[in-house]
Amino acid sequence: MKILITAGPTREYVDDVRFLSNASSGRMGYAIAAAAVAAGHDVILVTGPVDLPVPEGVKVTHIETTDELRMSCLELFPACDGVIATAAVCDYRPARRVVGKMTKTGEPIVLQLVETSDVLAELGEQKGDRWVVGFALESQDPRTNAMRKLRMKNCDCIVLNDTSAISSLENTVEVLSPEAATIAEFGGLKTDIARQLITFIQTKIAGR
Ligand code: CTP
Repeated sequence: MKILITAGPTREYVDDVRFLSNASSGRMGYAIAAAAVAAGHDVILVTGPVDLPVPEGVKVTHIETTDELRMSCLELFPACDGVIATAAVCDYRPARRVVGKMTKTGEPIVLQLVETSDVLAELGEQKGDRWVVGFALESQDPRTNAMRKLRMKNCDCIVLNDTSAISSLENTVEVLSPEAATIAEFGGLKTDIARQLITFIQTKIAGR
């Protein structure tokens, strides 16, 4: 299969040197990309800035902002069989990016933020016969929130994990179906989870 994978954080610039972002390490997405290549798939990784080597055999597009993630995904998705979205996308960006570097005024400043595009929701909307696997990182009411995201983004399944996954080598995940059933549970090193997830997608999600 040809698989699109998103990974890492996005950045939203306040001015030319400062940005809003998050602590995503990209490890889960990179591990999934490596596992998919090892399983014989063609992998395109669209990644935000992370401190990890690109796994051998993976085609990569580097992005910074959510807009860049969106443009790359919209271009690449039509030629793929499915997408696995692990990217930790900034939900808000400054309403305007200041040209150059802002200087201090001695006064408090207010940063107005506007919502970014929901990239996975757009891919889900136009998926046709392609499959869509989302991730949900939840700290409260995890199943309800994950199911809301699955439906909103038209996912074939959603991988639920909690905030302990951030920056960790390990993870524990639960895969939920559109019927809100737990259809798989994996735990351990992110590299092991990645292998199990790829096998699961090959056998249970792709070509359903
Ligand atoms: N996602 C995306 N574009 C966004 C936000 C999220 O593609 N602007 C994708 C993520 O890569 C993930 C899924 O949607 O696969 C859920 O992301 P998450 O951050 O958990 O949820 P949000 O939709 O951002 O909702 P909230 O921040 O309110 O929890």
